[in-house]
Amino acid sequence: MQDPNNFTNFANRSSSKWRRFPEEVLPMHVAEMDFDVAKPIRDRLSQMVANSDLGYQGPFPEIGPAFGGFALNRWGWKVEPGGIKLASDVAAAAVEILKAVTTPGEKVLINSPVYTAFFGWLKEAECEPVDAPLQLDGDTWKLDLAAIREQFENGVKVYLLCSPQNPVGRIHSAQELTEIALMAQEFDVLVISDEIHAPLSWGPFTPYLSLGQHAIETGVTITSSSKGWNTAGLKAGFLITQSDQVRNKLSRLPDAMQWRSSILGAHAMVAAYESGTPWLDETVIILQENLEHLRHEVATRLPRAKMFQMEATYLAWIDLEAYRISDLAKTILSEAKVSVIAGPDHSPQDDFKGFIRFNFASSKPRITEAVRRISELCEG
Ligand SMILES: Cc1ncc(COP(=O)(O)O)c(C=O)c1O
Repeated sequence: MQDPNNFTNFANRSSSKWRRFPEEVLPMHVAEMDFDVAKPIRDRLSQMVANSDLGYQGPFPEIGPAFGGFALNRWGWKVEPGGIKLASDVAAAAVEILKAVTTPGEKVLINSPVYTAFFGWLKEAECEPVDAPLQLDGDTWKLDLAAIREQFENGVKVYLLCSPQNPVGRIHSAQELTEIALMAQEFDVLVISDEIHAPLSWGPFTPYLSLGQHAIETGVTITSSSKGWNTAGLKAGFLITQSDQVRNKLSRLPDAMQWRSSILGAHAMVAAYESGTPWLDETVIILQENLEHLRHEVATRLPRAKMFQMEATYLAWIDLEAYRISDLAKTILSEAKVSVIAGPDHSPQDDFKGFIRFNFASSKPRITEAVRRISELCEG
C-alpha cells in the first residue's frame, strides 16, 4: 500500500497541509496523514465520479450496518443503526449539538490539553469552556475524575470529551469512562464523545456508548471515518444516539444536517468501514513504528525533551519546556522551518507554553529531518 519512506510523492497534494506554508517548511501540524488513501475508498470514489453520481446526499441506510459491523468487530460494540444521523463533518455535528442543547454563555466542560478546534466550536455555539485539565500520572496523561465531578457539582450540563484524546494519544479506560457515565447520569449531564481518532488505536479502545445504560442515557458520539482513513476533504461524519433520553435532548437539531453532508464522503465512509480494515491495520502498525522512530530521534537529538505514553493517534505531545524558547511553535516555524501546533492553543488558559503537537503520520526521513531541525534550534 503506502510507501511511508518516500520523501517526494507529495507534490500533487493541494490540501491545507501543503499550501499553508512555503515549500521549505516541513508540515507536521494539521492532522492529515502522508499516506495514500485505501484502495477500496479510491475505487468507490472513482466509480461514483464515472457514474456522475454526484448529487445531493439523500437517505443513507448503508451507514448503519457498515459502521455497526466495524464497531462490533473492532470494539465489540453493538450499535442500534437507527440512531445514526449524518453531518457534513465532526465539527459541524459538534457545533449543531452544542447549539441545540445550550443557551448563550453556557459553560461546557473540556479537558486540556485538547484539540484546538474545540475552542472554536464552543465560540461558534456561544459557549464558554470550563476546564478539568488532564493530570500527568508518571508518563501518562489521565482524566481528573475528581475535577470533572466538581464541575458537574458546579452545574455544568454539557461535557465535550475527546476520546481518544488529541493531542496526547491517550485512550481513556473503560473504568474512567464508566465513572464519567455514572456521574453524568447523577448530574444530568450530556456527554458529547468525539471518537474520530478511535480507529487509529493500538490499545484497547472503549466506545462511550458501549458502556451500558448509564452511558446510553447520557451520551452522543460524534465521529467519521475521515481521520482513520485520511479523507478529511470528503466532508462527511455522523452522530450516534442510542436512547430516547438523549434524542429528546437533541430534538432541536436541524433536519437539514443530514442533507448538508457530501455524497462522496458518505459513500467513502461505508467503503472504509466495510472494506478498509486491512489498510487500517497496516496503517496502525506504521504509526507505531513511526512513533518508535520519533521517540528514538527525540531521545538522541533532544535529550531534555519529554514524550509520553500513547495508545492512539499520530499526534505526539512533546514537552520542550527545558529549552526555554519563547513563543516556541512560532520560533520553530521561523527558525527551524517546521510547522507544529503550539501547546497553548490546546488550553483555554494558554497553558503548555513549552509544548508542541507533532504529527508523525509521515515518512521516517521526514520525521528525522523535522527533529534534526528542531534540535538545531534547541540544542544549538
Ligand atoms: C478530535 C478531533 N475531532 C474532530 C476533528 C475534525 O473532524 P472533521 O474534519 O470531521 O470536522 C479532528 C481533526 O483533527 C480531531 O482531531
